[in-house]
Amino acid sequence: MSCLLSFALLAGIASAINLNVSATGGNASSPLTYGLMFEDINHSGDGGIYAELIQNRAFQGSLEYPSTLTPWVSIGDAILTLQNTSVPLSKSLPTSINVASNSTNGTIGLLNPGWWGIDVKPQKYTGSFWALGSYKGKFTVKLQSDLTDEVFASLDIPSSATPEKWTEHKFELEPRIAAPNSNNTFVLEFDSKAGSLNFNLISLFPPTYNNRPNGNRPDLMEALKDLGGSFYRIPGGNNIEGDAYHHPWLWNETIGPLTERPGRPGTWGYQNTDGLGLVEYLNWCTDISVTPILAVWSGMYLGNEVDHILTASELEPWVQYALDELEFILGPSHSTHGALRAQLGHPEPWELKYVEIGNEDDLYDNGAETYSAYRFSMFYEAISASYPDLILISSTGDYTAVGGSNTSNPSATDYHTYSRPDYFVSQFGHFDNASREYKSLIGEYACVQGNVYNQVVGVDWDAPKLPWNPWVGSVSEAIFSLGAERNGDAIIGMSYAPGFQNLNSYEWTPNLIAFTADPSQTIKSTSHHVIELLSNNRYNATVPVTTDSDYGPAYWVAGVSEPGHYTFKAAIYNSTSTVPFSISFEGLSEGVKGTLSVLNAPDGLSSNTLENGVVSDVVRKTVTTLAAGSGGVFQFELDNYDVAVLTT
Ligand SMILES: *[C@@H]1O[C@H](CO)[C@@H](O)[C@H](O)[C@H]1NC(C)=O
Ligand SMILES: *[C@@H]1O[C@H](CO)[C@@H](O)[C@H](O)[C@H]1NC(C)=O
Ligand SMILES: *[C@@H]1O[C@H](CO)[C@@H](O)[C@H](O)[C@H]1NC(C)=O
Ligand SMILES: *[C@@H]1O[C@H](CO)[C@@H](O)[C@H](O)[C@H]1NC(C)=O
Ligand SMILES: *[C@@H]1O[C@H](CO)[C@@H](O)[C@H](O)[C@H]1NC(C)=O
Ligand SMILES: *[C@@H]1O[C@H](CO)[C@@H](O)[C@H](O)[C@H]1NC(C)=O
Ligand SMILES: *[C@@H]1O[C@H](CO)[C@@H](O)[C@H](O)[C@H]1NC(C)=O
Ligand SMILES: *[C@@H]1O[C@H](CO)[C@@H](O)[C@H](O)[C@H]1NC(C)=O
Ligand SMILES: *[C@@H]1O[C@H](CO)[C@@H](O)[C@H](O)[C@H]1NC(C)=O
Ligand SMILES: *[C@@H]1O[C@H](CO)[C@@H](O)[C@H](O)[C@H]1NC(C)=O
Ligand SMILES: *[C@@H]1O[C@H](CO)[C@@H](O)[C@H](O)[C@H]1NC(C)=O
Ligand SMILES: *[C@@H]1O[C@H](CO)[C@@H](O)[C@H](O)[C@H]1NC(C)=O
Repeated sequence: MSCLLSFALLAGIASAINLNVSATGGNASSPLTYGLMFEDINHSGDGGIYAELIQNRAFQGSLEYPSTLTPWVSIGDAILTLQNTSVPLSKSLPTSINVASNSTNGTIGLLNPGWWGIDVKPQKYTGSFWALGSYKGKFTVKLQSDLTDEVFASLDIPSSATPEKWTEHKFELEPRIAAPNSNNTFVLEFDSKAGSLNFNLISLFPPTYNNRPNGNRPDLMEALKDLGGSFYRIPGGNNIEGDAYHHPWLWNETIGPLTERPGRPGTWGYQNTDGLGLVEYLNWCTDISVTPILAVWSGMYLGNEVDHILTASELEPWVQYALDELEFILGPSHSTHGALRAQLGHPEPWELKYVEIGNEDDLYDNGAETYSAYRFSMFYEAISASYPDLILISSTGDYTAVGGSNTSNPSATDYHTYSRPDYFVSQFGHFDNASREYKSLIGEYACVQGNVYNQVVGVDWDAPKLPWNPWVGSVSEAIFSLGAERNGDAIIGMSYAPGFQNLNSYEWTPNLIAFTADPSQTIKSTSHHVIELLSNNRYNATVPVTTDSDYGPAYWVAGVSEPGHYTFKAAIYNSTSTVPFSISFEGLSEGVKGTLSVLNAPDGLSSNTLENGVVSDVVRKTVTTLAAGSGGVFQFELDNYDVAVLTT
């Protein structure tokens, strides 16, 4: 933002954009507008927002990803092996680790490096492990440095292990000082005289957001809360589908005690713990005050092999499966699945208004065809019959599969777009013609590649994606968002995707928030800043704007909440000079105050990054108080790549 209005006028670079903003006559805004898309992509859940610090805590495995000892390390002369003991911890967790002494001398045990480190601070860590075997001595648990072996916390726990039955040992560890870095490990030791013991479900949690047991990492939840979003699509996109091995996300196997969760071969190349399950997702929504948009699996597996789409008769039990899940969430506590919910400590139903049928069901050749022929309608009809108020969203982003008549449930469609800056800007008007009868959710959007000049194109999936979103990408997303806000009566809301990137093992770039085990290295992308500004400045209705200027290089939307309380949002793209604005808001007189908040970065290519352990945040925010001049006109200038919000 430049304060030198006179400079621009003297230089004669650009004439002012004159806008008259009406007090009434627009469209209702979407009550949701901005939200979250969390995809449990490479260690965004396990090893990410799910706060469990121990990697491979319960040796869960499958045909696809057999149980493994990785990353456990033996201590002393311990020999570590995987075993299916004749007494399993549970049907769901049959495999445990056997720790045997090779010499009956000294201390033996096992060590876990966490998910690429463990953050150690003077705070309470809550741990537990299950043991099986004959041992009357003590266990020692420790948090220690992987670099120097310095011990930050250590605790002795008397053994209550028996050979007949698994027993749980609970403990709390409280380091007195913070470790200098996150290169730390968790250690569990005992006297080698025990000979051989089995362990399972070895767990350690730091304090979690809202102190939820089995909860989420506070810093990452704060980063989501800052967005001021209103909805959260659960449990992700590709995450619900399952890959070529045909393991869709099973809500019924993600609930109840952790001992009852077998885990699942996930979509990104490893076994998921499912510690982050349906109830945890719903609590997450409660904790950051967002409404869930629940996706149910609609019969398409990822992968293009012949049998990746179910026939109508194969799909039938899955329709019932979705109804059971809805009963679990919404049903009275005397219903079968409502009773299960109550038994798990949630007598009251959760709030749920939106259900999405599948994810990107047009992805494959016969995907769209089978989806519009029977897959969408089987779910639509069955869910409508039991839940007439739910808004049912198709996953194809078009109107090839939408609900029936006005007497049945409202339906909507989920539109995804990954793009380049120029293309996003060209999509400012994308929703101007959109159906008002069938609304759109913009469930995934992101600028993922740079411009290819002289070609306005979307993504080239064969070309590399950007490692970090540059500021110009975030500005282009802002312009696309302003276009969506302008059509708030046609959209449910929009969510950037994906939400998280674990910098130690990632699959996709760029992402909204990147992190390591060390919370001081959490990076909010430039797009996070843009969404935070736009999302936290809501209004009730758009209002008409009359002007003598076309859109480009400036793009804008105006809205009103209470009479006299206007919100004007604008972004500048591809301007070679500053852009002066002169805005008259109906009913405002000279002297009325306004607040102008402007985001920009040193240049279009600057990104928020982590380099050599240092987080750089390039986004600058300036906040200025303005007063309306003669005739109640606000005057100010915006620079190229400014994203601005003026409130009165
Ligand atoms: C444990 O049992 C599972 C399921 O039968 C089997 O796949 C796995 O190989 C067994 N693991 C060991 C270590 O015996
Ligand atoms: C057990 O100890 C013997 C003697 O020191 C050694 O040769 C052997 O490699 C050890 N076994 C394992 C599995 O570490
Ligand atoms: C047993 O451990 C003690 C102390 O750690 C060591 O001095 C001794 O040599 C060990 N004995 C054997 C047989 O390994
Ligand atoms: C911790 O330090 C060890 C030893 O220097 C190194 O091999 C490892 O990569 C480091 N781990 C992390 C998470 O930094
Ligand atoms: C969960 O539901 C699936 C699909 O109906 C079923 O195959 C599985 O056995 C169920 N799991 C449990 C633990 O009941
Ligand atoms: C729903 O009702 C509205 C208003 O009566 C009508 O314009 C519209 O065509 C109806 N839609 C369908 C699908 O029947
Ligand atoms: C931005 O500027 C470039 C270079 O002049 C041009 O090729 C491109 O079409 C412009 N994009 C938009 C959306 O105005
Ligand atoms: C909107 O509809 C008009 C008339 O059918 C068409 O000319 C225009 O290209 C459409 N705009 C978009 C963004 O689809
Ligand atoms: C994703 O995670 C799996 C398992 O941890 C790993 O094998 C794979 O390489 C990861 N992908 C990337 C791109 O890091
Ligand atoms: C309201 O929506 C209509 C389409 O239904 C659109 O043409 C119009 O521009 C919108 N008005 C405002 C002020 O956004
Ligand atoms: C804005 O309103 C004023 C006063 O009615 C009028 O003179 C001016 O032409 C209008 N400007 C535009 C761009 O509509
Ligand atoms: C605007 O929305 C807020 C919050 O939803 C509500 O309290 C207020 O009454 C609304 N104002 C108008 C004028 O509709």
